[in-house]
Amino acid sequence: PVSAAEAPQAAPAPSAAPAVSKDVTILYGSQTGNAQRLSEKAGKTLQSNGFQVTVSAMSDFKPNSLKKLQNLLIVVSTHGEGDPPDNAITFHEFLHGKRAPKLEELRFSVLSLGDSSYEFFCQTGKEFDQRLEELGGERIAARVDCDLDFDEPAAEWLDSVLSGLSEASAGAAPSQETAAAPAAESDYSRTNPFHAEVLESINLNGRGSNKETRHLEISLEGSGLTYKPGDSLGVYPQNDPKLVDDLIAALGWNADETITINKQGDVRSLRDAFLSHYEITVLTKPLLEKIAQLTGVDELHDLIGDSEKVKAYIHGRDLLDLVEQYGPFGVSPQAFADVLRKMPARLYSIASSLEANPDEVHLTIGAVRYNANGRDRSGVCSILCAERLQPGDTLPVYIQHNDNFKLPEKAETPIIMIGPGTGVAPFRSFMQEREEAGAEGKAWMFFGDQHFVTDFLYQTEWQKWLQSGVLTKMDVAFSRDTAEKVYVQHRMQESSKELFQWLEEGAAVYVCGDEKNMAHDVHHTLIDIVEKEGQMSREQAEQYVADLQQQKRYQRDVY
Ligand code: 2AM
Repeated sequence: PVSAAEAPQAAPAPSAAPAVSKDVTILYGSQTGNAQRLSEKAGKTLQSNGFQVTVSAMSDFKPNSLKKLQNLLIVVSTHGEGDPPDNAITFHEFLHGKRAPKLEELRFSVLSLGDSSYEFFCQTGKEFDQRLEELGGERIAARVDCDLDFDEPAAEWLDSVLSGLSEASAGAAPSQETAAAPAAESDYSRTNPFHAEVLESINLNGRGSNKETRHLEISLEGSGLTYKPGDSLGVYPQNDPKLVDDLIAALGWNADETITINKQGDVRSLRDAFLSHYEITVLTKPLLEKIAQLTGVDELHDLIGDSEKVKAYIHGRDLLDLVEQYGPFGVSPQAFADVLRKMPARLYSIASSLEANPDEVHLTIGAVRYNANGRDRSGVCSILCAERLQPGDTLPVYIQHNDNFKLPEKAETPIIMIGPGTGVAPFRSFMQEREEAGAEGKAWMFFGDQHFVTDFLYQTEWQKWLQSGVLTKMDVAFSRDTAEKVYVQHRMQESSKELFQWLEEGAAVYVCGDEKNMAHDVHHTLIDIVEKEGQMSREQAEQYVADLQQQKRYQRDVY
């Protein structure tokens, strides 16, 4: 490299066409924190390349400043049936509504996160991308849709964005010096998990329950990992050894044969590879397409040609079903493994406070078991934890910080917690944290499950917190103890007056657990309560709840 003194003088910036500004705004919509972290990383990379970067949650961004932007990057995930994350809803609505401004000066690019096992894969990202074009924006780089294993495609997207931005803004500021390599992960992380020892594993449900809920205590000693209430633990599970053996047998392969499992060239036996490194329990449409292409099996081509049929086929089936029906394919193990998805980590809401349990993290994991298409099936991680994992074993883990589910800043702010089933987990963490801090704020818990006798998770702890005053009020709904089902939202209705009073006093509301049924119903119940007790119109009540969300006084951790 030439020293500065010897370097030829930089050519003056061309004066004819004004260079595009070096200001870049990155807006993210994030539920579990991945989109947020990628945005922050992208921000750092662009900054080190001489750009002025603002990174913000969509919910913190004032839509009327949109017209002033020149360079906009959007990083957004998709949930459930193609829905935007909570902190993207308002901005998404605004942009798609009549009041959205023309954006002819805007240059943009979208990075979307999703899971290809869902029908509406990356839907929210696709919508933003299309809408910004409709409004007159010009793409800096093409949209990239990421599956669960998003690191590589996200880094490639950032590379294209950086070249797109650098070309357009050449001469507007000093040229770049650093490459767009993502910042090195210093600590244990999703891509470099910590092998944590399991200290304790207990079934929280009593005999005769329909459920099995595991309480796991895991040691973080020596990892340097820390977390706050509301964060999640990422866990990399192993597949069921029996399923792995059956799959390898069905493919007609030798389990000891080796394959390369990644770009770094790490080699594993087929058995190890299918146990720990590849997802074998989920069929997705893109996977079926790749396997059809690889194997040339006509029946598979016919299947993927009919999207309704594919949808019906992949539901409740796994790779073994596919191989038994359409295989063995006579392809090499390596070629087959190369089309599979990497084993994704499972995220669990942390059930402990680090303050109360130094060097430990606790989880509450519901065992998933069901029968589909003539075979008993189970959740990969939950059944590993319920059936095979023993104290003394280790699990690869990392912390997934979640800014969207946090105790109020002020200890005196009242909190309302709604967490039936395993949704109870983060609230145990909240209570432990507030107990440790000697918190002054009121706290109200809504818990529900099937039966009082067998399913009241952490019952004695709740009673202790009620007695000591850390918890002010507790309402429980046991759905199968009475002829008619009672759910947490019925208990909320019964106390609607008091609940509204708490809201008016500034309480923050937290909902954790099942998204599709529970969180959806609780959301509408909240609006009902505000409408009735606040004597508001439906629209006013909806706005009241939307405002709560905007003020971060209504936060959800739902799955
Ligand atoms: P159920 O299974 O008896 O219908 C935790 O799983 C608890 O959540 C159970 O008591 C379950 O009741 C209940 N539950 C199921 N659907 C719900 C919904 N839409 N709203 C609230 N709770 C629900």
